Amino acid sequence: MTACEHMRWWNEARFGMFIHWGVYAIPARGEWVMHQEHIPHAEYAPYADQFNPQCYDPDAWVQLAREAGMRYMVLTSRHHDGYSLFDSSVSQFTAPRRAAGRDLLRPFVEACHRAQMPVGFYYSLLDWRYPAYFAGPRRDPAGWLELVQYMHAQVRELCTNYGKLDILWYDGGWPYTAQDWRSDELNTMVRELQPGIIINNRAQLPADFDTPEQHVAASAPGRPWEACITLNGSWGYNAADDEWKSPRQVVSTLVRCASGGGNLLLNVGPRPDGTIPAESEQILRRVGEWLDVNGESIYGTDRSPFFTSTGMTTLRGKSLYVHVLRWPGSELVVPRLLTPVSSARFLANGEPIAWEQRGDRVFLQELPAAAPDDLDTVIVLELEGEPRALDYFVDGWEQS
Ligand code: GLC
Repeated sequence: MTACEHMRWWNEARFGMFIHWGVYAIPARGEWVMHQEHIPHAEYAPYADQFNPQCYDPDAWVQLAREAGMRYMVLTSRHHDGYSLFDSSVSQFTAPRRAAGRDLLRPFVEACHRAQMPVGFYYSLLDWRYPAYFAGPRRDPAGWLELVQYMHAQVRELCTNYGKLDILWYDGGWPYTAQDWRSDELNTMVRELQPGIIINNRAQLPADFDTPEQHVAASAPGRPWEACITLNGSWGYNAADDEWKSPRQVVSTLVRCASGGGNLLLNVGPRPDGTIPAESEQILRRVGEWLDVNGESIYGTDRSPFFTSTGMTTLRGKSLYVHVLRWPGSELVVPRLLTPVSSARFLANGEPIAWEQRGDRVFLQELPAAAPDDLDTVIVLELEGEPRALDYFVDGWEQS
């Protein structure tokens, strides 16, 4: 399998679910609460004696992801606080050894496998319980070695005990280097244990894809990337955070990712009992309804050099999908298109649209006064040949 082939499904998927879940859901002030409030481990650890989710139903999570049109899922196996959802021979601070009394990662993986939903683990290299993380490898070489060995051992467990894994999503490598974490050796082990796995760039090595956080930023053409974004302002469950994004904002972000050739990993933060907040469910279901109708303009599309004053575009072969996020009224112009157009229609119902091509501009005419879809109306232009864009600058111009 070549490098490109093992990324194919992921590149086509475009939309995944990120899940931040751990004992930090109990204080309900986000997953950084231990650090932000400077809670010593001895005071924080008892949350693990309460964390025993009674309504945990990973099949329901997978079902929600499906309904939302998401095509892979990534769960926090262990976050910075050190609590492992899984059974580990190198830690006592784990779900099976505390109140939960069972491995909480396994049923999730099994639910994904049953549904043929590609599955990934988030894993934090750093662990706030280790003083060596704060002292660093130069000031505390012995402590650092212990941390690195523990981390490598856990990654080995994750890659050995749960069957096929599709994604390894590291985090928390800062402020140290790949050498400090022995990331090269780590990834070699991961790829031996899980051939075909896709690895993110947060073990301080580029690996397979970039991970812009809380914003959309396309990498250089050809370099895979995925924006990870929260549904409100928090990753872990935060009871006071009611700044929910609208379904429209989510669709617009997804379109922005797809038009730049990237993915969107959208986060939910389940409550301590394992249920996903109703607000998140509602937003995701609405986005899923939009994708049911308009998925063709997202999944498997390529980076597009075209945009209009009303939104972005996506491309698949000779089909150009014009995403009208701000409805302009009766006429809409698609500029800088050099390839002849053969037809124009609404994606949702196939209704043809009157159009005229003059120079590099396509005029879509006699459009309805109001947006047919208040999230994003998609218009498909079929092109007669390979899409070619007019460069603004004489020496060429690259979309950044
Ligand atoms: C950051 C945060 C973390 C969150 C992650 C998601 O690195 O430390 O809490 O899990 O980003 O991208």
